[in-house]
Amino acid sequence: MRISVISGSPKGEKSVTLQYVRFLEEAFLDHTFSVVHVGRDIRTIERQEEGWSGLLATVKECDGVLWATPVYVMLVPAQLKRFIELVGERNVTEAFFGKHAACLTTSIHFFDHTAHAYLHGVCDDLGMRYIGFCSAHMQDLENEAFQEQLIRFFSDFLEAIAERRPIQRVFPPLPAPSPPYAPKSPPAAVDTRGKRVVILHDAEPGSGQEAMVGGLAACYAGPVRVAHIRDAGMKGGCLGCCRCAFDNTCVYDDGFSAFWEEYIVPADILVMAGTVRDRFLSAAWKQFFDRSFFNGHVPAFKGKQVAYLVEGPLGHLPTLREVLSGLVMTEKANLAGIVTDEPGDPAGIDAALHALAERSVRLADREYIAPPTFPAVAGHKIFRDELWGGMRATFKADDRYYRQHGLYDFPTRNYLERISTRATSLMMCIPAVRREVVKNMPTYMIQPLQKAIESSRVLAERKTQR
Ligand SMILES: Cc1cc2nc3c(=O)[nH]c(=O)nc-3n(C[C@H](O)[C@H](O)[C@H](O)COP(=O)(O)O)c2cc1C
Repeated sequence: MRISVISGSPKGEKSVTLQYVRFLEEAFLDHTFSVVHVGRDIRTIERQEEGWSGLLATVKECDGVLWATPVYVMLVPAQLKRFIELVGERNVTEAFFGKHAACLTTSIHFFDHTAHAYLHGVCDDLGMRYIGFCSAHMQDLENEAFQEQLIRFFSDFLEAIAERRPIQRVFPPLPAPSPPYAPKSPPAAVDTRGKRVVILHDAEPGSGQEAMVGGLAACYAGPVRVAHIRDAGMKGGCLGCCRCAFDNTCVYDDGFSAFWEEYIVPADILVMAGTVRDRFLSAAWKQFFDRSFFNGHVPAFKGKQVAYLVEGPLGHLPTLREVLSGLVMTEKANLAGIVTDEPGDPAGIDAALHALAERSVRLADREYIAPPTFPAVAGHKIFRDELWGGMRATFKADDRYYRQHGLYDFPTRNYLERISTRATSLMMCIPAVRREVVKNMPTYMIQPLQKAIESSRVLAERKTQR
């Protein structure tokens, strides 16, 4: 069988993910693997006809496509995202049509599922037969049990190709875009109360996104800084080199860090506007997110109100919504809202933009950050354990931040609780005590909360006096 491997890592041969492919090559000697380094070579692929046609020929001639990619900021690297855009823009989807596909990722399992869902949706759109994914932790290949699983995964992929296994589409096709939004009613201005509002966008002139950006900016009475992310002057996508790990300094010497300092850092209210391209925002936005990795695992949006303007069918893209809201929450910011042009009703969009402006200022004023849900709680534990478990040797900047902010908050550090848990556990060995606890479990569960309820009135009064 001829397998075309589309490698998404900018690191090319030095990619961690590619070592998993090399393992498969050695394990399946009867099959041929042709690796196309789209992550490493995206610039040449984009500019030179020769590289592009050679790549397409490899895909056309293969029996199955393996997307082998690292997870970068909850998705695939911007370079691979750009390649997927090119396939659509250059109308060459027929090279992929009908082929069986699978994906193999490496990561630390932080939002790997969104990267898989994205690739699955892309495969469905290309008319491919998506078999499934294998999600490896970046060090899993050292583990024999994992190696066996990887072989099983790949055997299933090969069998699916040999059997011409029928596969149902999972992600429905996206609807046709709504007509571009044009503001209808003049906005009523919202007092920004000294909050610094920044809107970043990648709008084309005359687009619905540009109209939404203008519409939202006009909703704020105070000054609003609006900038195109092109002005960050990024020379390229994140290289995955992790040189930033030591002191949060990127290896690139371009305008990105200065842009970050100028727009992101001072913003109290940060709005990011984008247009749906395939099943995510543009590769340019993805590059912006990837490049933000120079901050390591330090929450770069901490304390900000963050909002999005999305031109395109967001309601049909739960993965995009999950990534956008996940980004905010894991950065310890608050999602003030997302407005899309999807309803196609200009007056309704005007109203939503105005409501967003009002809410963002109100929440910024109250310094409200929504309590985290599963993605941020789980993300914290993953980063904490990964850093402590080894990454801190090189991710020095993260380590410093985690120490200074008490983020190495393992439950084992709470000695008082450990003693009391041990004591309770011993008491539970006494049948009479256990009977009593079992009988009154709900009472015991709410007992520690009573003190808070008793003090709530005082707290509310103190808040209104402020
Ligand atoms: C810019 C960047 C972003 C990353 N984002 C994520 C992420 O969102 N989730 C995750 O689990 N790992 C993330 N990682 C870790 C990589 O997925 C992991 O190191 C991977 O094995 C790298 O593979 P490669 O060498 O093939 O590029 C990120 C790494 C980089 C450099």
